[in-house]
Amino acid sequence: MARIAPSILSADFAALAAAVDQVGAEADLLHVDVMDGHFVPNISIGPPVVKALRRHTDLYLDCHLMITNPERYLPAFRDAGADGCSVHVEVGRTEALIDQMRELGLDVGLVLNPETPFAAAEPWLDHIDLLLVMTVHPGFGGQSFIATVMEKVEKARAAIDERGLRVALQVDGGIDPTTAPVAAAAGADTFVAGNAVFAQPDPAAAAAAIRAAAESVRPA
Ligand code: DX5
Ligand code: ZN
Repeated sequence: MARIAPSILSADFAALAAAVDQVGAEADLLHVDVMDGHFVPNISIGPPVVKALRRHTDLYLDCHLMITNPERYLPAFRDAGADGCSVHVEVGRTEALIDQMRELGLDVGLVLNPETPFAAAEPWLDHIDLLLVMTVHPGFGGQSFIATVMEKVEKARAAIDERGLRVALQVDGGIDPTTAPVAAAAGADTFVAGNAVFAQPDPAAAAAAIRAAAESVRPA
C-alpha cells in the first residue's frame, strides 16, 4: 500500500483550506514544508499555519522541518497540532532531537539530503517512525527527481526489513506518476508530491494517479 502526502508548498497559500478539501479524500498525510531561510535558501511557513490547518482538518500533519534550530520550535509545532515532525540529520544533535520529539509526543522523522549517505541515519533506525530520503535538494518545489538516490532508498528498505522495523520510508521531491513507481520499486512506501498534485487541474485525481502508479510495482 502506497501512502500519499500532498505537499501544500505547491498549493495556493491564500486558499489552503480549499486546497486541503480538494485533496482530502486522496491524502493519507498532509506534508507541511517548513523553511527558515537559513538551513535552506527559502522561507515558507511555520507553526501558525499548522495551527490553522489543524482547526480545519483531521488529516495527519507531517511537518518537514528544513530549519537549523528544530529544538527551538518543536514545542510550538506540537502545540499547533502537528502529528509528526521530521528533522534533517545534517542539522546534527540527532539523539537530542529524537528524545525531544518523543517527549513531546510527536512521531519522529529523520531526513537525509541527496548527498547524505544512509549510514548517517542507520544508527537511529530503531528509534524513529519515518525516514525521509530527499529526491531533490530541499528548498524549492517543482524540481526534477534525482534517480541516483534510489540506491540509498534500497539500502534503507533492506535495513528496515532485516530488522523487522515499522519505519515508514518516504520520498520527497519530483514525485509524479512516472517517478513514483521508480521509488516504489526501490522500496519507498510514502510519497510526497507538491507540483504533481496541486499544480494539476484536479488535485484529488492527480494524487490518486500517483498512488495507482506507485502500487503498480512491487519492491524487488
Ligand atoms: C522541497 C520540499 C518538498 C517539495 C516537493 O524542499 O521538501 O516537499 O514541496 O515538491 P515537488 O513535489 O513539487 O517536487
Ligand atoms: Zn518536504
